[in-house]
Amino acid sequence: MKRIAVYPGSFDPPTMGHVDIIERGAALFDELIVAVAVNSQKQPFFTTEERVEILKECCADYPNARVDSFQGLLVDYAQSQGASAIVRGLRALSDFEYEFQMASINRKLNEQIDTVCLLTRWEHAYLSSSIVKELFINGGDATGLAPEATLKKLAKRRAAG
Ligand code: COA
Repeated sequence: MKRIAVYPGSFDPPTMGHVDIIERGAALFDELIVAVAVNSQKQPFFTTEERVEILKECCADYPNARVDSFQGLLVDYAQSQGASAIVRGLRALSDFEYEFQMASINRKLNEQIDTVCLLTRWEHAYLSSSIVKELFINGGDATGLAPEATLKKLAKRRAAG
């Protein structure tokens, strides 16, 4: 049976931390679906379409990874895709409480879908989407912190004023 996993997130914007989890998730599963969560309560920095575009470029090197977006409950989406696992990146202790809560509620909602947390590489431990946005807003350079596709979109945003 094909082992399919969903790697969900806001990815606003994707960072090198996300790319690392994509690479390692794609190596662990037969198919990895990188899924952008559409949250109507939040005002994102990049539109869903922009984030999907960036992630498609990030996944180009991984033939068993594809990009999608979803609305509603993650476990419902995962089930609709035939996935048996949810992949998440775990940075510091502070992430653990949130991830534990998410994994527990998702397990309660659907026992067939397990959560697999991959420990973030130490060099990405301090990294976050907010840091990349903060750098950009203050005129800084996010080279090395975000993938080329994110940097290109940021440069386009800067050029547009
Ligand atoms: N390295 C470095 N940073 C990382 C990282 C890694 N490996 N993995 C995550 N991060 C950072 C991100 O950059 C981001 O930073 P920010 O806080 O500055 O934005 C943060 O950690 C988390 O973002 P992300 O990975 O994009 O995910 P998220 O926490 O926004 O995603 C969902 C949450 C989408 C998975 C969750 O809200 C969800 O499942 N929603 C659907 C509704 C649902 O089913 N809810 C649960 C049941 S009620």
